[in-house]
Amino acid sequence: MGGVGRVLDGVYRHALRPQLFRLGSGDAEVAHERTLSMINWMGRTGPVRRMTERNFGARGSTVRVAGIDFPGRVGLAAGVDKNGVGIRAWGALGFGHVEFGTVTAHPQPGQDRPRLFRLPTSRALINRMGFNNRGARALGFRLDEAGVRRGNNAAGVVIGVSIGKSRIAPLADAVADYLASLHQVAPYADYIAINVSSPNTPGLRSLQDKGFLTDLVRAMVTEARVLDQAHPVPIMVKLAPDLTRAALDEAVEVCLDGGVSGLIATNTTIERRGIATVDEPLAQQAGGLSGAPLTRRSRAMVAHLRGLVDLPIIGVGGVMKVDHAEAMLDAGADLVQLYSGFIYGGPGLVTATNQRITTRDGN
Ligand SMILES: Cc1cc2nc3c(=O)[nH]c(=O)nc-3n(C[C@H](O)[C@H](O)[C@H](O)COP(=O)(O)O)c2cc1C
Repeated sequence: MGGVGRVLDGVYRHALRPQLFRLGSGDAEVAHERTLSMINWMGRTGPVRRMTERNFGARGSTVRVAGIDFPGRVGLAAGVDKNGVGIRAWGALGFGHVEFGTVTAHPQPGQDRPRLFRLPTSRALINRMGFNNRGARALGFRLDEAGVRRGNNAAGVVIGVSIGKSRIAPLADAVADYLASLHQVAPYADYIAINVSSPNTPGLRSLQDKGFLTDLVRAMVTEARVLDQAHPVPIMVKLAPDLTRAALDEAVEVCLDGGVSGLIATNTTIERRGIATVDEPLAQQAGGLSGAPLTRRSRAMVAHLRGLVDLPIIGVGGVMKVDHAEAMLDAGADLVQLYSGFIYGGPGLVTATNQRITTRDGN
């Protein structure tokens, strides 16, 4: 990061972030919405985007993972930009990939607000958003309008799309519901993430069970081949940190047998360990916990997965500092993703992580 970048980073941490957090003191989601509007504006406004890119956009060398060339190892986790409002912006902020979504086949409002809570002393978040999104079709439309096609790098970042189950679809129809979303976004996505690990859609996590997961993974991998025989879109699976070792090992076996191209570990946790005392009143809120309390658990799960498989692994969960990103890679991840770390650390964390990883990779 150059001098101007350091100033902008300071502006984010000391002026913009406190203001955003104050703005959203009643409902943390207000700050999220304002941030996304700014990011959307930045992405659409050429001079601002180019200035941002000059200061934050260096991503290090390209790495090939799951047959895809990723510019840098740091990505934006699913759930930040569910509807693809910042298609051209994320690369300028230093991300090498972005996972849009989770989208569902049916547009849906999600749970009632407030549904996002900040636990600043614990550097954590609790959310029960419940897949609020405009639907897979709308995301496909936005990507199409932006000229994005799989592999064409029109957005300057690798694009993943996370797919979940619509709330109105019964579990028995889950496979058809996921396939409907796949049809809408497959032409545009560089990879697809099957989300069976959010705690906020009733019954969703039971799709990680052997029977369900086998059917879902087989159907998605087969359909990806039907849609594009020569270059099927890689299918990855995102897992919960709350699985028992036995259930996790079983899920991994299903993924391997079903031909998935990668694993994403982890989603948020329903446990409440590692929360600072002052934040305990909020810890009672229902939903998934992310951020610092997840750092060790996600890393341990990645290390366990790496011991089991050679598949590509995207490590996510509690990457709040550059050291955490490096430790995640040391544990066996090929790429890392940020959500809570980006909220608390801003673009400066992305830039600093890219710099460290570039050095680590020997470039
Ligand atoms: C407000 C919020 C919304 C999220 N929405 C999604 C989502 O739609 N799909 C998904 O796969 N993960 C979602 N996540 C989980 C993140 O992608 C990530 O796996 C998790 O937060 C752990 O990473 P972190 O500690 O860096 O936040 C969400 C997380 C938060 C905090």
